[in-house]
Amino acid sequence: MSPTTHLRLGVNIDHVATIRNARGGEHPDPVRAAKVAAAAGADGITAHLREDRRHIRDGDIARLKDDIGLPLNLEMAATPEMLKIALRHTPHACCIVPERREEVTTEGGLDAAGLHNHLAPVVARLSDKGIRVSLFINAETRQLEAARSLGAHIVELHTGAYCEAALAHENAKRDAELARLAEAARNGAAMGLEVHAGHGLTFDTVAPVAAMPELMELNIGHFLIGEAIFTGLEGSIRRMRVLMDEARQGGRASLPGASETKGRT
Ligand code: PXP
Repeated sequence: MSPTTHLRLGVNIDHVATIRNARGGEHPDPVRAAKVAAAAGADGITAHLREDRRHIRDGDIARLKDDIGLPLNLEMAATPEMLKIALRHTPHACCIVPERREEVTTEGGLDAAGLHNHLAPVVARLSDKGIRVSLFINAETRQLEAARSLGAHIVELHTGAYCEAALAHENAKRDAELARLAEAARNGAAMGLEVHAGHGLTFDTVAPVAAMPELMELNIGHFLIGEAIFTGLEGSIRRMRVLMDEARQGGRASLPGASETKGRT
């Protein structure tokens, strides 16, 4: 695969809804944010409909599907309720994530291996409707193999542990996590899976991940929405796009640590 293959950016707009819901009204509207993201170079929109509806609501999903003109990646737990919603709205893709009511964010990858029997009918029903199915997993061979045996089209590798180590300047752990991600990206692609990555990525951490040639898409949310407070949403997305493209083209940004100062411009 050419290292210059376009790396898609999926912008997760959940936390626009978090701010909206803090006051219970309609502002800021995540669909408006999705349209800004499209204009700023996003290739897709990601939204997580949680069981407790803490950010994205059911009505947002219908509008995101119909109004934005970009592929919608619906993150969801593998529950009967979410399956029904996904089958009704038929998003471009569904990313199945583990979900615990008390967690602040998606804490770890899905145990695709241990949950095979639970996941198999969900993957099959979504696939039968023409929805691409992604599994959000840790970068482990056993989870990649489970995803393949389930017939998932995509795996999204959890980058949280790498990002935490990088931001804490735990360099040995950061490099070990990066190596694990790179190996999983290679193995996943060799198995015929489309490989994505995401969680916790920032201007300072994106480059070494974006430089992995097997990756086809990154999904990024919290940092972009937070940064938008300072630079505007369009500005934060455009900057991320530039960093991703530079890394993909083998620029300085792809060296571990090189983006630590670069990203703060
Ligand atoms: N990918 C998946 C599967 C996620 O669950 C999330 C968080 O909702 C993200 C990517 C984006 O993570 P962040 O908001 O930390 O960028």
